[in-house]
Amino acid sequence: MAIDLIIHSANQVLTLAGDAPKRGKTQGELAIIPHGAVAISGEKIIAVGDTLDVLALADASTRKIDARGKIVLPGFVDAHTHVVFAGDRTSEFDARLRGATYLDIQKAGGGIMSTVRATRAATREALIAETRARLDAMFAHGTTTVEVKTGYGLETATELKMLAVIAALAADRAPDLVPTFLGAHVVPAEFHGRPDDYVRLVIEEMLPAVRNAPFATRHLACDVFCDDGAFTLAQTRHILTRARDLGMGLRVHADEFANLGAASLAAELGAASADHLMVTPRAEMRALARANVTATLLPGTTFGLGKTNFADGRAFVEENVPVALASDFNPGTCWCESMPFILALACRYEKLTPAEALVGVTLNAAYALGIADRVGSLAPGKLADVLIANVPEYTHLAYRFGANPIETVIKRGRVG
Ligand code: NIG
Ligand code: FE
Repeated sequence: MAIDLIIHSANQVLTLAGDAPKRGKTQGELAIIPHGAVAISGEKIIAVGDTLDVLALADASTRKIDARGKIVLPGFVDAHTHVVFAGDRTSEFDARLRGATYLDIQKAGGGIMSTVRATRAATREALIAETRARLDAMFAHGTTTVEVKTGYGLETATELKMLAVIAALAADRAPDLVPTFLGAHVVPAEFHGRPDDYVRLVIEEMLPAVRNAPFATRHLACDVFCDDGAFTLAQTRHILTRARDLGMGLRVHADEFANLGAASLAAELGAASADHLMVTPRAEMRALARANVTATLLPGTTFGLGKTNFADGRAFVEENVPVALASDFNPGTCWCESMPFILALACRYEKLTPAEALVGVTLNAAYALGIADRVGSLAPGKLADVLIANVPEYTHLAYRFGANPIETVIKRGRVG
């Protein structure tokens, strides 16, 4: 087989080899090859190993990239985002700095609902253009796969419009997108005072509609925001149970503001991930571990809210829960395109080591999305989603912050 590209002589190649999510003692296993190389043919990785061995595979037409003094790692998998929306919420940011809370703003009709109004009013083309610019910035910071939630429609037509936007952007192929249905983000204004009617709409109309949408992939999962000001535990159970019966994967926004038991529910229903987890007690962490639910921590949101009660990443590792990290990119609490910045936050405030955090943004994130057979590590047969970072060893990725350490992004074998 012709080898199209070899990246060689890297100080470190972080392979993340392994067949299961990493957790507990293995959470920080990067499986590093010193003086390493990666060979690529078409969209896929063909070989990973010592530079001399891999260079021996080259033929006359093989392109070579010298990564001397640098590191090579898998593309970042951002496993939790709300990147499709119209407009921004800078005025709420200003109000929060003056003392208003996220929930105060939401109760006054702002928050998620203000983005819902803008998103309902936007054309498909406008949403595509706005979102594409954000995805381009994420890609430049090394993100090669992005989970994208709906949830700014909260009516069937606009939820379907958001899925169509995700499908159109997925066809661009830089980065790859994984859609999630979040019709239960908040109760929309027109259902004020009758949340159970909205839950019924989600279950009876939206779930079947999104399941049958032409652009719903086999990966379409269902998420619910279970929290104060959003959905109760009983409502969350109702929606997720129905989604599970339809064969959808499950995720849940759990314990961002209040501990309602959503992490235990995620464990009980066999969810792929429970996300946020800022106020999760140890007993619920153990429930996640027993059920193999990935804890997807979102330190950018805590930071974006100007809060200090970060999720206790160390405790999740101690309790043997596989930990992933994601940006939670959204207009309300976290406008952040940079996974390297998420690494920096996770190490300082969630007490993960740089190696543990790197597993969280690659292999474990891929497991949380059900796509670890294709991305998340550097191994023969996987997609050639490969980053070259201009740092001498991996610890620098979390140690430095505020600038972009990612020099080259290779997506499905194409050098960006
Ligand atoms: O993950 N918590 C719910 N959803 C987002 C916020 C979305 C918004 O404020 O627009 C989150 O933080
Ligand atoms: Fe979120």
